Amino acid sequence: MSENVGQLSTKHLLGIKDLLVEDLELIFSTARNFKEVINRPVKKVPSLRDVTVANLFFENSTRTRMSFELAEKRLSADVINFSASSSSVSKGETLLDTVNNILSMKVDMIVMRHPAPGACVYLSKKINASILNAGDGAHEHPTQALLDAFSIKEQVGDIKGSRIAIIGDIIHSRVALSNIFCLKKLGAHVRVCGPPTLIPRYIHELGVEVSYDLEDTLRWCDVANVLRIQLERQKIKYFPSIREYSRYYGINRQILEKVGKNIVIMHPGPINRGVELTSDVADGPASIILQQVENGVAIRMAAMFLLATRV
Ligand code: CP
Repeated sequence: MSENVGQLSTKHLLGIKDLLVEDLELIFSTARNFKEVINRPVKKVPSLRDVTVANLFFENSTRTRMSFELAEKRLSADVINFSASSSSVSKGETLLDTVNNILSMKVDMIVMRHPAPGACVYLSKKINASILNAGDGAHEHPTQALLDAFSIKEQVGDIKGSRIAIIGDIIHSRVALSNIFCLKKLGAHVRVCGPPTLIPRYIHELGVEVSYDLEDTLRWCDVANVLRIQLERQKIKYFPSIREYSRYYGINRQILEKVGKNIVIMHPGPINRGVELTSDVADGPASIILQQVENGVAIRMAAMFLLATRV
């Protein structure tokens, strides 16, 4: 992999909002190279040899955590992992003290998931190491949006002009916000769809259409990115029951057959099977859910490589 691949405009990956279109395209082209690398028999490159990365997860994760760790190992970085539940955070240590102690062990880069929106932005003002946001509350999840856009590009070619629906629990979703920023920058038409209680009132100000009608939205879109109902973030009841939600907003084979067109089905995971998607749709021919996960490793390799080699 050539070291002369261009530069990101930023030292951190805190969110999509502040990235330039050139940054997005640079990450995608670098990820395409890394995707080729990780499909070789020898999947490892020395690009981040002598770089030490700490993965700090203050919230649960399967995909993002393993994907970052695998990306770091494929790049030959040294990796340390931290879980809030088994750390001294439970003894009252602050976030900044925790991170400064980890950095004093000569760590170069921080990957962090945290339940507080803005936690990565806060840290970026206090420390020198590069930070990659692995999801901060209901704020942003930039690498998810990048891997989603990369996966959409593989399906539709140019994202510009394509119609992409984001369906479900928009109000609690960092994936929705990062996807909206990313897809709008790339020139897509974006629509959000879900029950009125799960759609932020002023979301149209981000340049997206709003619909409460799933069938109409499926007729409109080329790609449906279906989000998980985040019951763990819902302090009040936003809809009467899971059964009613899935009746009006769950995607099943019957509604896709009624709409009668090819729609790419995406989901960031974890899926509530039978709620947002039935299994025949999640595992069906239109689903690219596992391709999204595969692409996540290449996207995270690209983001870390570009941040680490930035001068
Ligand atoms: N998509 C996603 O962020 O999944 P995890 O919560 O398992 O990391």
